[in-house]
Amino acid sequence: MAKTTEMMDTARAAGATDAAGATGAAASDGSSAAAGRRAAGEASEGGAWDLAEIRAQFPILSREVNGHPLAYLDNAASSQQPLRVLNRVERYLRREHANVHRGVHQLSAEATEAYEGARRSVAAHAGTTDPSEIVFTRGTTEAVNLVASSWGDAFIGAGDEIVLTKMEHHSNLVPWQLLAGRTGCDLRFVDVTPGGTLDLDDFDRLLGKRTRLVACTHVSNSLGTVNPVREVVNRAHAAGALTLIDGAQAAPHMLTDVAKTGCDFYAFSSHKMCGPTGVGALWARRELLEEMPPYQGGGEMISDVRLEGSSWAKVPHKFEAGTPNISGVVGFGEAARFLADLGPEAIAAHEGVLKRAVLDRLDEIEGLHLYGPREERTAVFSFTYGDIHPHDLSTILDQRGVAIRAGHHCNQPLMDHYGISATARASFFFYNSPREVDALCDGLALAAEVFGGIA
Ligand code: ALA
Repeated sequence: MAKTTEMMDTARAAGATDAAGATGAAASDGSSAAAGRRAAGEASEGGAWDLAEIRAQFPILSREVNGHPLAYLDNAASSQQPLRVLNRVERYLRREHANVHRGVHQLSAEATEAYEGARRSVAAHAGTTDPSEIVFTRGTTEAVNLVASSWGDAFIGAGDEIVLTKMEHHSNLVPWQLLAGRTGCDLRFVDVTPGGTLDLDDFDRLLGKRTRLVACTHVSNSLGTVNPVREVVNRAHAAGALTLIDGAQAAPHMLTDVAKTGCDFYAFSSHKMCGPTGVGALWARRELLEEMPPYQGGGEMISDVRLEGSSWAKVPHKFEAGTPNISGVVGFGEAARFLADLGPEAIAAHEGVLKRAVLDRLDEIEGLHLYGPREERTAVFSFTYGDIHPHDLSTILDQRGVAIRAGHHCNQPLMDHYGISATARASFFFYNSPREVDALCDGLALAAEVFGGIA
């Protein structure tokens, strides 16, 4: 039962290195990596990283499910929210709510300050010093759709090429298919190696004179692969293309430094980083936002409206038509500050320790096939187990209070690539514990028993 807890001591040393690796492009700066190692040391020796104290900030983590303590391992789908975020949203709703940017009364001023303060916090999380480069959206999906509609419709034409990868979430695929339908542009797809990494030679073959954009996920939501985004960006730029990075699975776990990444667009969601659902952000270089036409028309995105025509507000407001999800944005800002206070290096260090422990435990399970690379990955584990259907695995684990996701994870082309229809996926976050690694493995042992062994 306590096997993983015992293994954690050994895993910690490895976790220290992993933590730096898991910060991906941002951590390839030596100072960030060193900070990651320092934080890992502090965290693992019980100094700075008090897991019990951190877990106590998430009320939902102490509930039971089906008579067992909840082991919430579906963080890649949505993370939980700490008291600090819940309380901030409640305070906003109880005391500060009014519409933003519109009134001159006190509440409107307070709501506007809360909203714009959140923009500053989210900008800091993204690694930009210019908050006007942050456009609030409903989430990563809407951020990608915004770029595909606004930038795509304005700058893409028939015969132009957009390079995607075979590991993209549907959110970073379907908007481009829609654009291709509207404009006649062509989509190209970078292959994925059997080990679950991008085939960069194939990428080079696909880049050409007609490539206008490379849109690539930072971290695969199914495989956990941390893609070499800086390398992808450099090669795309050398070919004269812009780059969009889907950061939905990266922003919660690592330093998101858009400047170091060098990309042109970066999309991420609040609800995977301890904030509310229904809100996210698009970061884009300011000059790009300035030359892009509005995405939607309506209130607040205008400068002047006449019956004959209108002019637009300055960025980012040009892209925020209508009354926004104000309480969601306020919660998003608090979540960004919460993660900053925990420290991205310490988060990555703890997740690195968990990751090593899970990899070691899953390695021991006969008949379990884990997808994705062993290095340069996050603590997201997609697997099949014998011929037990992933939905059955998920149901049995749920009986033990273990929440995982089963299915195609909005990655159908990737599933096709591997010749499967679904995987079981356990995804960890900084608040997960060694006990929850044990709960996952015990649940898998139970599944094998229920199904009379593994074929
Ligand atoms: N994109 C989310 C996931 O991977 C919903 O589960």
